[in-house]
Amino acid sequence: MEQKVYIKSYGCQMNVYDSDRIIDLMKPLGYQLTNNQDEANLIILNTCHIREKASEKVYSEIGRIKKLKSAKNDKGQEFKLVIAGCVAQAEGEEIKKRAPVVDVIVGPQSYHTLPNILKKNDTDTKKINTDFLTHEKFDNLNYESGNSSSAFITIQEGCDKFCTFCVVPYTRGSEYSRPIKDILKEIEKYSDRGIKEVTLLGQNVNSYHGHDSNNKERSLDYLINKISENESIKRIRYMTSHPIDMSNDLIKCHQYNEKLMPFVHLPIQSGSDNILKRMNRKYKVDKYINVIDKLRKSREDIAISSDFIVGFPGESDKDFDLTMKLIQDVKFSIAYSFNYSRRPGTPAHNFDSQIDENVKKARLSAMQTLLKKQQNDFNKQFLNKHLDVLVEKKGRHINQYVGRSIYNQSIFMESKKDLIGSIVNTFIKENTNFALSGVLNTK
Ligand code: SAH
Ligand code: SF4
Ligand code: F3S
Repeated sequence: MEQKVYIKSYGCQMNVYDSDRIIDLMKPLGYQLTNNQDEANLIILNTCHIREKASEKVYSEIGRIKKLKSAKNDKGQEFKLVIAGCVAQAEGEEIKKRAPVVDVIVGPQSYHTLPNILKKNDTDTKKINTDFLTHEKFDNLNYESGNSSSAFITIQEGCDKFCTFCVVPYTRGSEYSRPIKDILKEIEKYSDRGIKEVTLLGQNVNSYHGHDSNNKERSLDYLINKISENESIKRIRYMTSHPIDMSNDLIKCHQYNEKLMPFVHLPIQSGSDNILKRMNRKYKVDKYINVIDKLRKSREDIAISSDFIVGFPGESDKDFDLTMKLIQDVKFSIAYSFNYSRRPGTPAHNFDSQIDENVKKARLSAMQTLLKKQQNDFNKQFLNKHLDVLVEKKGRHINQYVGRSIYNQSIFMESKKDLIGSIVNTFIKENTNFALSGVLNTK
């Protein structure tokens, strides 16, 4: 009987990239991908540990799958449940003890061992591998699955920065940069398939320091320029950047490299030096503003996005007001904001003066109102103007397509012809619900 695998990603883009790599690993074992949990013989949950809510989701999902597994087993059908990702890394041993329904647990740096674990086929002994095998992992992956217009590529993984709120250094391990030739080879595979855009991924992507073929360490701007030599690749993006690693060379690259998109995701987290210090972010607000100024001098129209944590332990009304002021000063094209979530094992978990949940809620709501207004203001300026769009997928309506502008905005349009994977020029007519709609410029 045909074997089917269902996989669900809970986390960041790197987690989505990992899911694609896991699919690549399952195909040679005879598994076909399915979108329907009920027909799967193998379910893989690729989990995220960044905030409490993300982690909790996994446990409720395991509960649901338990019922599915018993139903399958009653019918004599084979069924396995794998927990991968950052919750597997952080809480693997606990899952192993608490959830007997789980067959295999693999972490973000050891999932390449999954085929061997599954092949052994002895479900009696619980299998867990959460070793940090980052280098070995990249050498043992295939790079096949993914969408047909734009590809994510992990070029740097792990983090040595240890912000006091964050689990990533513990779940992804220490920083590792992939060698340039491996990255270029992977990109060639995608461009041969007609992909026009690559997004280079890393927890601190701008601290990239991979080796070239002469074993010389190279930085991100060098890598971007190398990738630009591939003629089929028209657009290059990178995320997520850390403000202290935003080098002048990378900033300049935005000026002269036309394939490098005018969009930078640069999380600041807070606009208060006092809070930034307690977060161990290693920069002050002035430094961040200085980087933004330089980016805007380098490329006037560059769109800046960010992440904010609201209600970090000790955040006073004044600290919060400083963050709101920073937002007003910088003007973001889009930004993501989250209530601080206490994560076990991180230093801030034990900090005094944790903030009341109601205070967090009120601050978050005020911040999101301001950020939404800024996103709307940013989008509004493109009404009645032309934007080039890389079309990614079909929209919900008939003949509707959706893609991204150079500034990373979502743009909707209609066409009778299949546009997926092509770059089209649109004339922007509407700005609704944080997305723009345009008509194709057929001239
Ligand atoms: N490496 C990136 C961020 C990775 S995590 C950076 O340094 O900016 C993605 C985002 O999740 C962070 O930017 C932060 O805003 C949020 N985040 C991380 N830990 C969190 C926590 N404990 N509570 C709430 N939000 C958190
Ligand atoms: Fe987490 Fe800080 Fe590392 Fe970003 S830089 S991944 S927020 S520890
Ligand atoms: Fe989540 Fe791990 Fe990414 S914790 S945000 S899946 S690095």
